[in-house]
Amino acid sequence: MPQDNTHAEGDRKPIRIWVDGCFDMMHFGHANALRQARAMGDYLVVGVHSDAEIEKNKGPCVMNEDERYAAVAACKWADEVVKDAPYVTTLETLDEYNIDFVVHGDDITTAADGTDCYQLVKDAGRYQECKRTVGISTTELVGRMLLLTRDHHIRGTRAAGSPIQGVDREAVANFSQGSKPAGTLTGIAHYLSTSKKIVQFSSGREPRPGDRVVYVDGAFDLFHTGHIEFIRRARELGDYLL
Ligand code: CTP
Repeated sequence: MPQDNTHAEGDRKPIRIWVDGCFDMMHFGHANALRQARAMGDYLVVGVHSDAEIEKNKGPCVMNEDERYAAVAACKWADEVVKDAPYVTTLETLDEYNIDFVVHGDDITTAADGTDCYQLVKDAGRYQECKRTVGISTTELVGRMLLLTRDHHIRGTRAAGSPIQGVDREAVANFSQGSKPAGTLTGIAHYLSTSKKIVQFSSGREPRPGDRVVYVDGAFDLFHTGHIEFIRRARELGDYLL
């Protein structure tokens, strides 16, 4: 959810930042990019490409644009979401939203014709990089899913502890785009080891006396709009959601 502190300290003009992307099957790599970008300024505008724009430049998405817009809007570091943002970031777009500079992960993104999507803003000196989170990507998530079977969650089809038919658990756990030493997990483990970072994903406040505290739990695998809506409704039932 958008944060309250969208104003600059003192009298200086608030720094407005732009991040754009597909945000397909939004994962913590995306959230971590928004976290880093938000920390570089005071107000974060996130441009999300439409299905048609992505199809033209990259190929089809798993999630449709409404699901992707909702996922980004639910991220606490996004102050504003711009729907149907152009795939190649233009200075006109930045000016329209009064943006100081663009932030993108430290990888290159190209359009259908092979040009760097950020060349225009790079040339204008309005481009900054944040650190891309290793070991997680939409491609990787799709790859992990492809290693599972259609009925791997159906109960009663196997004895407790026996291997699930057709599922190579190790292959699923270790599936990664990059090469990793045998037996190690992806960059997820590396990322989660920093508890200081995890804390930033919550509101950071303690429940107040008299607060109605609501607790939910779940696996939240492939976090999607159904999860987001569930959490939103649970939060409405009380004052503090755990
Ligand atoms: N990003 C990141 N770390 C990741 C994945 C994405 O920092 N592991 C950043 C990208 O660099 C970009 C933003 O998240 O600044 C949005 O990325 P997106 O356009 O959705 O595409 P990809 O970079 O292709 O992400 P993915 O590979 O997961 O589809």
